[in-house]
Amino acid sequence: MEAVLGLIVMLLGLSHGVETHCDGRQDGAQCYGALGGSVEIKLMDSTSKIPRYHLLKNSLKILDVRKKKILSNIIQNRSLFFPSNGTFRLNYLSRTDSGNYSLKTFDSDGKASDEQTLHLFVQAPVSSVLLVSECLSQGERRVSCSSEGGDSPQYSWTLDGRTLTDAELLSGNNETNVITLKQHVSGHLVCSVRNNVSNVFIEHRMSTCGVETYCDGRQDGARCYGALGGSVEIKLMDSTSKIPRYHLLKNSLKILDVRKKKILSNIIEHKFLFFPSNGTFRLNYLSRTDSGNYSLKTFDSDGKASDEQTLHLFVQAPVSSVLLVSECLSQGERRVSCSSEGGDSPQYSWTLDGHTLTDAELLSGNNESNIITLKQNVSGRLVCSVRNNVSNVFIEHRMSTCGDSISGIQTSRWVYENNSLLMCGLRAVVVILLLIGISIYFAWKKKKHDKAEVSAEERQTANPQELTV
Ligand SMILES: *[C@@H]1O[C@H](CO)[C@@H](O)[C@H](O)[C@H]1NC(C)=O
Ligand SMILES: *[C@@H]1O[C@H](CO)[C@@H](O)[C@H](O)[C@H]1NC(C)=O
Ligand SMILES: *[C@@H]1O[C@H](CO)[C@@H](O)[C@H](O)[C@H]1NC(C)=O
Ligand SMILES: *[C@@H]1O[C@H](CO)[C@@H](O)[C@H](O)[C@H]1NC(C)=O
Ligand SMILES: *[C@@H]1O[C@H](CO)[C@@H](O)[C@H](O)[C@H]1NC(C)=O
Ligand SMILES: *[C@@H]1O[C@H](CO)[C@@H](O)[C@H](O)[C@H]1NC(C)=O
Ligand SMILES: *[C@@H]1O[C@H](CO)[C@@H](O)[C@H](O)[C@H]1NC(C)=O
Ligand SMILES: *[C@@H]1O[C@H](CO)[C@@H](O)[C@H](O)[C@H]1NC(C)=O
Ligand SMILES: *[C@@H]1O[C@H](CO)[C@@H](O)[C@H](O)[C@H]1NC(C)=O
Ligand SMILES: *[C@@H]1O[C@H](CO)[C@@H](O)[C@H](O)[C@H]1NC(C)=O
Repeated sequence: MEAVLGLIVMLLGLSHGVETHCDGRQDGAQCYGALGGSVEIKLMDSTSKIPRYHLLKNSLKILDVRKKKILSNIIQNRSLFFPSNGTFRLNYLSRTDSGNYSLKTFDSDGKASDEQTLHLFVQAPVSSVLLVSECLSQGERRVSCSSEGGDSPQYSWTLDGRTLTDAELLSGNNETNVITLKQHVSGHLVCSVRNNVSNVFIEHRMSTCGVETYCDGRQDGARCYGALGGSVEIKLMDSTSKIPRYHLLKNSLKILDVRKKKILSNIIEHKFLFFPSNGTFRLNYLSRTDSGNYSLKTFDSDGKASDEQTLHLFVQAPVSSVLLVSECLSQGERRVSCSSEGGDSPQYSWTLDGHTLTDAELLSGNNESNIITLKQNVSGRLVCSVRNNVSNVFIEHRMSTCGDSISGIQTSRWVYENNSLLMCGLRAVVVILLLIGISIYFAWKKKKHDKAEVSAEERQTANPQELTV
């Protein structure tokens, strides 16, 4: 089982900055503001012709304006009203600012002439999103997207830029936060989490789950290997054009019947594909029960059996993780052990600076055991490789001689993700750089924000502050 993690964290500084706008001119309008942020609400088109108006929050008068002059504003320290364009701005939003705001207008005689109401909802923005993707045993992929901080988050998914379809989904839908994708679905998956004051995306480039192997099964007695959960493609014959009829049997059970390039029957249709054009068959979603003897039986034009050839298919689990532990012993020797998980019949081998380990370098163990002891003064780039017939994983360790360094145990670990070791590493680097970038950006923004507040309060030129990251 493999897992990929992605994480996007919005630092707290962000909610300072969330600013929303709302048109509150329609009676009954719904406006949204972000906790800690600001909301700007357009209350009216033109204030020029209205002699007097009040703004009430849940029936409490908070603003009184007459002839474009603000007579009172009870939340003056964190709100602003611009009579010129009829806009009301509320800063440092808290949950208690949610409520019904009404604008009451009066004619020149002081008689109430109109009243309109808007509903303000203060929501916490989404502060972090986590994506976990793992391959299941049959080659399906389970992906979950979870978020923190946001009120009433809504999830949605896209694959290569379009909404996920039922044809790609095994469970869940385009709006649940946990989905299972069918086998062989690959591409650029994006989970988006939004509420009315924030919208956060996280993306994952998926390859299909499972390892693909290829085998030439044209020689009688050929041995073919497939990876558990993966696919195997086996070439059975050179050209099928001249063979009038043939059967493919698995452990003596007929699974395929072909006559004149037409497939008459295929009993394991859901995971078995045969291409008469190039004499190749493909088995998907391999399970251990697919191991066995497959024979190709050919018939001549009279229907008489003319030939039979057999191949052996072995389904193995690929190596899923490798751990290397290196420690210095008291006499300056070095003991290194390499261990793996997940793989069937793993075979170990060692190289030092690109060549096979020699007895001159080894105190115990040999180039094929998983635990070795190296003599004193042996240094260089040590590589342990763990392979079976469906996977091959390397792990390396740069050693100095034991006398030089403080003795201690060093460990390295490699965890398998979908065959693409390099991509996995690159992805991790990109995610880390991204997170560092985001942190620096918000640290800088927060600093700038704090600085602006400080200089505004003190009303003096501050000394230029250095940005330390
Ligand atoms: C605004 O003033 C009230 C009391 O009048 C005070 O409780 C509140 O902390 C002030 N808010 C800000 C942002 O200065
Ligand atoms: C209204 O005017 C104020 C001050 O001129 C400005 O800051 C604000 O952005 C304006 N708002 C709209 C919606 O035009
Ligand atoms: C705001 O208005 C809605 C309907 O217009 C009402 O259901 C709700 O109780 C009101 N809330 C307050 C705090 O007055
Ligand atoms: C989810 O799919 C349904 C129909 O398949 C569609 O109506 C809906 O808009 C989609 N939702 C999102 C968030 O894309
Ligand atoms: C936002 O608000 C509208 C109603 O004003 C609501 O229908 C919708 O579900 C809310 N959520 C999102 C994510 O837009
Ligand atoms: C055989 O043909 C199929 C379908 O055209 C193709 O997918 C497959 O890769 C081919 N295999 C070989 C070994 O040529
Ligand atoms: C497959 O063939 C080998 C030798 O050809 C035989 O030992 C083995 O028992 C066969 N397995 C099955 C399941 O028939
Ligand atoms: C290990 O060494 C022996 C002889 O020194 C060699 O025959 C064998 O191929 C080596 N094994 C590997 C996996 O390199
Ligand atoms: C290891 O190197 C040191 C210093 O270079 C030397 O004194 C020592 O004899 C060497 N040991 C072996 C086993 O070669
Ligand atoms: C793979 O299969 C061959 C025989 O087909 C076998 O000799 C070998 O030991 C297997 N293992 C590896 C790691 O190649």
